[in-house]
Amino acid sequence: MSPFLLTRTLPEDATGADLRADVLHGLTRTPKELPPKWFYDARGSELFEEITRLPEYYPTRAEREILIDRAAEIAAATSARTLVELGSGSSEKTRHLIDALLPGLENYVPVDVSESALRAASEALTAERPGLLVHALIADFTRGLALPGTPGPRLVAFLGGTIGNLLPEERKAFLRSVRSLLAPGDALLLGTDLVKDERTLIAAYDDEAGVTAQFNKNVLSVLARELGADADPADFDHVAVWDRDKEWIEMRLRAREALTVKIPQLDLAIPFGAGEELRTEVSAKFRQEGVRRELAGAGMELAHWWTDGEGRFALSLATAV
Ligand code: AVJ
Repeated sequence: MSPFLLTRTLPEDATGADLRADVLHGLTRTPKELPPKWFYDARGSELFEEITRLPEYYPTRAEREILIDRAAEIAAATSARTLVELGSGSSEKTRHLIDALLPGLENYVPVDVSESALRAASEALTAERPGLLVHALIADFTRGLALPGTPGPRLVAFLGGTIGNLLPEERKAFLRSVRSLLAPGDALLLGTDLVKDERTLIAAYDDEAGVTAQFNKNVLSVLARELGADADPADFDHVAVWDRDKEWIEMRLRAREALTVKIPQLDLAIPFGAGEELRTEVSAKFRQEGVRRELAGAGMELAHWWTDGEGRFALSLATAV
């Protein structure tokens, strides 16, 4: 088994300081909001994996279908010697891509905030694909990135539709920082969920079995464990709303009654009115013209646009110009 490298570009306590800043900022303003990255502790990551297997949650299956169908075309179009994956998680879908890029592919650079996910994925991959150098990076890719000096051509993959978690201004900054990792001719492979009928969208974020509700409420457990917050998940309802103007889904937690959440480690008491909502996630949905425009604005050109058979999800391949 070939070894793998693990580099930490986040200080050990970065997560704690970031969470405190986000809670202080987001819970003392109106309307209340928290960034979705705080869902993903070990339990939250497990719940997300469970979501990807729900009948209503189509994005994961749709994207896997496209990756399997198009892996050979992606490999031929990019000839990548280095694959960088942002928000790699379990690297499960990426295996199709890695196998299509081998034997030319020399380096796989998974980037994630979760050290445990990176270790598990890297160990499995180095065992199965001897000869592939895995250089895992513990980093928050929303804060600018420094990559190891791996050979080009480079392919940066950002899958799952996670770009939809960023607000338009954040997306702009993010795409510019991705562009700065690429030399002319290098490529970005981007997964985006597409605008579709409201019923399908709402069902994907408010499933029958209530797994997404548990996932949403898991952020309260994170606040309890990390900051001593006393919010009771039973005091909140899971809400999923489609904003038809902004073309995004919002997940919220709605207080059933008026209540106060005490957060001792921040010396805060946060009042909620009855029915008051805390926005926990934005998940934007896209159209081809919008994706093309946003990529162009960051110095990239849309070269391929592939969708699943039902047209629910898209993979874009863009080249740096
Ligand atoms: C992992 C960000 C792509 O927005 O669909 C799943 C997270 N939220 N169900 C998404 C999520 C609610 C997911 N992403």
